[in-house]
Order: sequence, then C-alpha cells, then structure tokens
Amino acid sequence: MSNPNDALGSSVDRSFLAVLPISDGVVTIRAMSDADAEAYATGTTDALVRQFAHLPLTEYTPQIVRDMIQGVIADGLRDGTLAVLTISDASSNSFLGSLVIFDVKPDDAEVGYWVAPEHRGRKVSGRALTLAVEMARKLGLRKLRARTVQENPASERVLLNAGFEQVGDARPEIVPSGKTEMSVNYLVEV
Ligand SMILES: CC(C)(COP(=O)(O)OP(=O)(O)OC[C@H]1O[C@@H](n2cnc3c(N)ncnc32)[C@H](O)[C@@H]1OP(=O)(O)O)[C@@H](O)C(=O)NCCC(=O)NCCS
Repeated sequence: MSNPNDALGSSVDRSFLAVLPISDGVVTIRAMSDADAEAYATGTTDALVRQFAHLPLTEYTPQIVRDMIQGVIADGLRDGTLAVLTISDASSNSFLGSLVIFDVKPDDAEVGYWVAPEHRGRKVSGRALTLAVEMARKLGLRKLRARTVQENPASERVLLNAGFEQVGDARPEIVPSGKTEMSVNYLVEV
C-alpha cells in the first residue's frame, strides 16, 4: 500500500498527537507535561544518560525543560518533525523515562530513549520500544532506526529484544549531541 506522505516528500502531517497516548497497561508513552520537568531534569544528571543518551544540552534545569515543553517540543509535535515524549507508569502516570522520535523522513525515523536509574531493571525501555513501533506503524512509517554506541550492552539487548536488527558494523558517526562516536545502527520494520 502506498504511503500518503510519500507524495509530500517530507515529514509534514505526521500527527504524533493523534496517536498519543499509547499504552500496554504497564507503561504509557504520552506527551510531556510540566509535572515531568523535575524528574526529566534529574534523570539527565545520571552518568549513563550523560554518556549514552546524547542529549543536545549539557545541563537541564526544570525551568529549561518547561520552556522546551512549551517551545521546541510543542513545535515538533505540531509539525511532525520531533516527538520528545514521556514514558510513564500506566497506573500512576508518573515519569519513568524519555523516548524521542527524531530525524523523521517519509518512510522512517530514529528512536532514542533513556530510563531514570531508579526505574531500571523492569524492562521499561523494552515496553516503550514496542509501543514506539506501534506508534510508527500508526504514523504510516515503515521502519524505525536506532543507534547505540559500541559499548552499551543494555541498550543493545533492549533493541534486539524489541525486534531490531543490527545493520552493518560499528562506525564513527555524528550523534545527536554533535559528538562523533563509534555507533552501531539498528533497524526494525514496523
Ligand atoms: C538502556 C536503558 C534504557 C535500559 O533500561 P531498562 O529498560 O530498565 O532495561 P533493563 O534493566 O530492564 O534491562 C533490559 C535488558 O538489558 C539487559 N541489561 C541491562 N543492563 C545490562 C548490562 N550492563 N549488560 C548487559 N545486559 C544488560 C538486561 O539483562 C535485560 O535483558 P533481558 O530482557 O534479555 O533480560 C537504561 O540502561 C538507560 O537509560 N541507559 C542510559 C541511556 C541509554 O543508554 N539509552 C539508549 C541509547 S541508544
């Protein structure tokens, strides 16, 4: 079946908000709210998040996060170019981690994620990735891409468990933070 967005040749009309929230009953992926700002900012201070999540800023305060929610994050959701989302506990709605869909192209997009250290060990990111695949399907995408740096076994495990396959060998690439890292590429058909 042809993808109606192919004709547009761009990422317009990717209605993230139309497919959110999405939940498996344990975790939910939803738009960020101001109530997430504190937990998001705290999560970004974790050493593994700093090392592997390649966030664009070196420091996030709750106020910076609130400004982003009103600004760049709202813009991205509206124009279909960027979705910075919260992975929340489906029961309490509290913040567990972050999932980002970016570099949206007509057929595919890249996904990134992190889980706050106190919520790790319960396969939260695996559940979130499965929901991201469902989201991508609903958005009319055909593939989701992901990247890890070479020495990130937890993320590698999570991606393989979620059905992603490694594409090629590790190679130096510019990551979203702007640095160059030895990256491993992954792909899943949605
Ligand atoms: C990657 C990350 C999201 C995983 O968190 P999580 O969802 O809580 O994952 P879990 O701890 O439940 O572990 C998931 C799997 O990874 C495995 N794993 C966890 N830590 C591991 C490690 N250090 N080495 C090898 N495997 C590991 C677990 O055994 C589990 O495997 P299984 O499901 O086959 O039993 C989390 O570690 C994180 O936020 N890291 C920092 C940011 C990051 O790396 N993001 C990804 C960038 S692409």
